[in-house]
Amino acid sequence: MIKTKCVPITEASLQEAAQLLRKGELVAFPTETVYGLGANALDAGAAAKIYAAKGRPSDNPLIVHVSDIDGMRALAKSFPETAQKLAEAFMPGPLTLVLPKKDCVPDAVSGGLPTVALRIPSHEGARRLLEAAGLPLAAPSANLSGRPSPTTAGHVWQDMQGRIPMILDGGPCPGGVESTVLSLAGPAPVLLRPGLVSPGEIESVIGPVALHPSILENAPIDSAASPGMKYRHYAPRAKVFVLEGTWQDAARLYDATLSAGLRPALLWNAEELPFLEERTAEVFFEENDASMAAQRLFACLRRLDEKQTDVIFAKALPPVGVGLSVMNRLLRAAAFRVLSGANLSHAKEEELHDIMVNYGIL
Ligand code: TXA
Ligand code: MG
Repeated sequence: MIKTKCVPITEASLQEAAQLLRKGELVAFPTETVYGLGANALDAGAAAKIYAAKGRPSDNPLIVHVSDIDGMRALAKSFPETAQKLAEAFMPGPLTLVLPKKDCVPDAVSGGLPTVALRIPSHEGARRLLEAAGLPLAAPSANLSGRPSPTTAGHVWQDMQGRIPMILDGGPCPGGVESTVLSLAGPAPVLLRPGLVSPGEIESVIGPVALHPSILENAPIDSAASPGMKYRHYAPRAKVFVLEGTWQDAARLYDATLSAGLRPALLWNAEELPFLEERTAEVFFEENDASMAAQRLFACLRRLDEKQTDVIFAKALPPVGVGLSVMNRLLRAAAFRVLSGANLSHAKEEELHDIMVNYGIL
């Protein structure tokens, strides 16, 4: 087992981190989205350590973080005008572009694909680390594969303690969900993963963008186009259900789950929490604020796991703008289990148990 240190970001800790990275070791660091598990992106051996530490399949490609547009050009075989415009509009920031890769990017980083995913983080800690290391950094989210992405250094510690030498603690990540991933490698732009840069914002710069069908559906995955989507993602230990319903539906489901001897919890909007009284619940968002939901989602799922919750009922958000990225993550955490309040509220008391068994809640 490796001894892991978790330290605040200082000039000294950055120099130490940079040295570890240059030696082919892993360092976890904050970004504006989630914490990343960084390695030298030009070193296949270092990238292999990422897969081992995360327990992640090695055909799932990694996002490479660079300091500026020149850093992107150094790794992309071509850099279309759309990429230039998007970079000017949104970078540094939570947008990742998939572009044809140069040969210097090892297959271990691209998952064997002819493309590479590139982004310029805006978080000061990430930027200072990139500068200190002087390397492009391959960095997926710093969680064990399948677990909710980490938005604090404490989350990284929970998953990576004993597996990596160093975690740089830059406080909670402001964004909370991973970057938007847009492919510019094909004939037309395709959104592969929604994030804090919304489809509408991208379209205002480069025109129409297709959404990959797997964003909100459990669609069959063309693994070459969107490799990350084929694996189970973001799942807490509890069974999650998305509830398209009222707080009354939530209360009824909660109470029936509790009566069946399981530990339920609710992920709900702040305005209605008082009505849910003493039931175990976390604030998911206020006033339909999807950015707040994005910021809180993974942290709430982890907190409810710590409370040994068995079943989580999470309130659905409209899947538009930033809400699209929240629903994309939430549906995966829920393995696409969606409950319709309309069906539930018509059910008689004696029918509810059977309905819940059918839905797999009980
Ligand atoms: O916000 C983020 O992007 C975070 C932070 C740490 O920067 N990183 C992150 O990386 O989320 P990761 O490895 O957990 O997610 C990588 C995503 C996956 O969905 C993967 O399929 C996609 O990017 N991806 C990476 N390279 C790709 C490629 N060449 N072609 C298509 N998709 C790619
Ligand atoms: Mg991830």
